[in-house]
Amino acid sequence: MKPNMLPTVASDLKHPIMDNEKNEAMLIRSPNRRNRPLAIAFGVVALSYFAWSTVFSGYAFHMPCQNQKDQGTTLFPPVQVLSEPALVPLEAHIMSKCPDAKDCLKMLVLPTMQRVIDKVNFTLSYIGTPTDNDGVDCMHGPEECLGNIIELCASQLYPDPKIYLGFTMCMTRDYHDIPSKSLVEDCALEHGIDFDKLNECSIADNGGLGMGLLRDSIRRTKDAGVTKSCTVRLNENIYCVRDGGEWKDCPNGAGVNDLVIAVEKLYRSSSSEAQKSPSIAH
Ligand SMILES: *[C@@H]1O[C@H](CO)[C@@H](O)[C@H](O)[C@H]1NC(C)=O
Repeated sequence: MKPNMLPTVASDLKHPIMDNEKNEAMLIRSPNRRNRPLAIAFGVVALSYFAWSTVFSGYAFHMPCQNQKDQGTTLFPPVQVLSEPALVPLEAHIMSKCPDAKDCLKMLVLPTMQRVIDKVNFTLSYIGTPTDNDGVDCMHGPEECLGNIIELCASQLYPDPKIYLGFTMCMTRDYHDIPSKSLVEDCALEHGIDFDKLNECSIADNGGLGMGLLRDSIRRTKDAGVTKSCTVRLNENIYCVRDGGEWKDCPNGAGVNDLVIAVEKLYRSSSSEAQKSPSIAH
């Protein structure tokens, strides 16, 4: 067994927690914040929805976040055009501690979602490498795996992208600090997420629940042939990649307007196909 590989599910989660006081506190203890008033939480959700486009800058440098090990597999899942519902699949593949993921969410994914949220079926997926013993290797270390798990738990508990995507953007803004307890708490509060529930999801089944979510997510990414954080896919095809602080492979344009137009075009064509098909008989 390679020393830098995460040997088991249990140690995947326990290592970063036990080795670091901050992280230990984050997942194990949850101080007297249990009965946070719901009204405040919902107010914050409403506010933070409109604060999505809040300007943020100040990141220092860019490193490409590419999963070298998975290069070469480009199997796309089969596309079922006619039987699909009218919602257009939109997906972003990220790593929680990747600066390109931050740019990509902030510059493209969130502002686009604000405009087409009712027309897309959005999925946020993670990039990593499965290990032989049911664990996951993350490019930026076990802290990133834990960050991914916390974000996946948020999407499980609050499937509305307005909530979990806002939470993930909040975490990604301070990606260096992932998975510190104070960051997770602040972002949870800002987006009306119950920190205790998030904590429970992350440690449930001795970490097995969260690790299962992460494994499923990285398998989905692998099946899509995606290796770079951040990769945006539209209608199951790669639409644009943010890599090393630059946009790459974006033939249709990396602007918010370009993506919004592409989504709307697909949405219109899928709904007109759905209307046409019953009348083909006569
Ligand atoms: C959205 O996408 C997911 C994952 O591909 C799929 O399982 C789900 O059925 C889709 N939902 C809708 C409403 O299209």
